[in-house]
Amino acid sequence: MDLSEIVKQLSPSLTLKISAKAKTMKSNGIPVIDFSVGEPDFPTPEHVKEAGIQAIRDNFTGYTQNDGIPDLKDAIIQRLIQDDALSFSPDEILISAGAKMSLYLAMAAALNPGDEVIIPAPYWVSYPEQVRLTGAVPVIVHTEESSEFILLPEQLEAALTSKTRAIIINNPSNPSGAAYETDQLRAILEIAHRNKLLIIADEIYSQITYEGYRFVRSLNIMPETRAHTVLIDGASKAYSMTGWRIGYAAGPATLIGGMKRIQGHTTSNPVSISQKAAVAAFRGDQRHLVVRVREFQERRDFLLASLAQIPGVSVCVPKGAFYLFPNVSKLFGRSAAGHTMKTAMDICDYLLETAHVALVPGEGFGAPNNIRLSFATSMENLREGMTRIQKALTDLV
Ligand SMILES: Cc1ncc(COP(=O)(O)O)c(C=O)c1O
Repeated sequence: MDLSEIVKQLSPSLTLKISAKAKTMKSNGIPVIDFSVGEPDFPTPEHVKEAGIQAIRDNFTGYTQNDGIPDLKDAIIQRLIQDDALSFSPDEILISAGAKMSLYLAMAAALNPGDEVIIPAPYWVSYPEQVRLTGAVPVIVHTEESSEFILLPEQLEAALTSKTRAIIINNPSNPSGAAYETDQLRAILEIAHRNKLLIIADEIYSQITYEGYRFVRSLNIMPETRAHTVLIDGASKAYSMTGWRIGYAAGPATLIGGMKRIQGHTTSNPVSISQKAAVAAFRGDQRHLVVRVREFQERRDFLLASLAQIPGVSVCVPKGAFYLFPNVSKLFGRSAAGHTMKTAMDICDYLLETAHVALVPGEGFGAPNNIRLSFATSMENLREGMTRIQKALTDLV
């Protein structure tokens, strides 16, 4: 069976490859510590679970409005007013099966084959593949560790061509935890505005940011971009609801209308029960977030202190999300236990096989000198995992 030319270009997810290997090792009785996961380790809050259970009891189990139930749209609209003073009408909101689907729909609705989409690297693994799925062309712009993985205006200017149609800005970032200060993002948005680029603002980690950094939505930094910005966010990360699959897009009614048409012919509505649970999440008490973010910050600080003790490893301090993205390139060329470190992938293989710790190599994020370490796991796991990593990396000669 021959696959389509577009699908042939898609690369399998490195994240999934590592986690599959880690799972197989675990099922063979090897005590693997998993630092590769991209989801909060906290459970979905009780009141949210209850709302989902109640939805089942109430037989709220049929099709719903294709673009999401009015009550959930309203809960999201109210959240955006309350948290960000941004006002949207219901026809400017689309709810989908996860932020991932919202992102894809935005691209599928706006891009034509051959259009170029600027993606700053390190990037979230799915962006280039989603762009390719539409027939458009991902244009990767490498950011520097010395600029804390922030895209600089001159880098963006240099990447623009007559075919540039859109830019994806992930703030805060998966995998680096980098987050833009207001002035830094304004400089990028001004260029995007001047060139009428579609701004895909993936702000899924907007609620997970650390002391000393104040997140501001791109639409608040430059409201003039409203006619060509699509804001992406959702319930997955903030409310520990990854499996419920609820994400949303907020943007111009024409674009949202196009996305809605595609959704109507593909998945139809997001899961009815999940939508009811998400109403409880967006409308309910938000204080659990403060407690969870504080815990993430303690873990981040512990990891930063541990990594500082490993010679040859450097790391930027993440301002948001729950990942560290250390540079391990100084270890390239070293060996131990029959493994030679030529790439970040080799280091991850070595750590998995000898120290039984799963991490994701930077190759999948367009940053081959780095590895991604998720701290969405318990402090106990982090302590044990870091002891193992420290030993394995210092064994390299
Ligand atoms: C940057 C980024 N955007 C979007 C998503 C997708 O989120 P969801 O689970 O809601 O589809 C993720 C999930 O890992 C992410 O890290």
